[in-house]
Amino acid sequence: MAADLILGKDVSEKIYANLRERISVLKSKGIIPGLAVVLVGDDPASQIYVGMKDKKCKELGINSYQCILPATTTQDELIAKIRELNSDDKVSGILVQLPLPRHIDESAVIKAIDPSKDVDCFHPFNLGKMVIGEAELLPATPAGIHQMMVQSGIKIAGKHVVIVGRSNIVGKPLANILMQKDENADATVTVVHSRTANFTDLIKQADILIVAIGRPRFITADMVKEGAVIIDVGTNRIDDPSAKNGKRLVGDVDFDSVKDKVSAITPVPGGVGPMTICMLMNNTVIAAEMRVKE
Ligand code: GUN
Repeated sequence: MAADLILGKDVSEKIYANLRERISVLKSKGIIPGLAVVLVGDDPASQIYVGMKDKKCKELGINSYQCILPATTTQDELIAKIRELNSDDKVSGILVQLPLPRHIDESAVIKAIDPSKDVDCFHPFNLGKMVIGEAELLPATPAGIHQMMVQSGIKIAGKHVVIVGRSNIVGKPLANILMQKDENADATVTVVHSRTANFTDLIKQADILIVAIGRPRFITADMVKEGAVIIDVGTNRIDDPSAKNGKRLVGDVDFDSVKDKVSAITPVPGGVGPMTICMLMNNTVIAAEMRVKE
């Protein structure tokens, strides 16, 4: 039987509808959520991401503040800018676009963001709250993956979830979200990585397999369990002479072979991709709502 396709666009539309309602409630109280995005330097990919965030803010009625700083900005200057945004009441959320130029310590910059405005949820304070199940803000991509499963009616409780990859922005936080004591989580989670013994055996045990390693089409049909749910977080640009621009975006999963063996799968592109911005907007609205309650 053909696998169900889990599409980020469909799931994100439902979440945007809810956000529009919450934004109008805030507006009725005289509050407009505001997102400040700080970009240091002129990395073309980062410029595209920042432009996409600005566009989505405008579509939803969130104020968008772009702070574009030159690549020569010092760490002290950047932290001074963040402090300014921390104390600006119009700004509900602050995002510093990564990667930063090499002379700047990312960790020091993240720690300078007021945790209540940390819409990336990269600050250790927010990551700690997530681990103990007291999160207000959650990291966008992992929260988006969780929402994709919940909104698609995929039961997570009691399932064996195997996450391939242990990054700070996907694997580690996602493992925490899915193991929380919560009827929409309650999973048994295994995280596998480049140093895992019996790597393929563990992957084959997954009821839900989530792959975030940045290796094109790494997971093939022989590695997955029949009927599993597959979430592909990979976005790899590979050469493809048949494509107009000679390039093609593929995931970490060999979609064409795996799709016939599993019950549900996210395609690349069109799967997890749209969820990150969606959950960033969600965090911006949550941060604005938190300020009303203060
Ligand atoms: N660069 C690539 N993805 C992200 C993200 O989710 N947040 C930030 N701040 N920078 C990024």
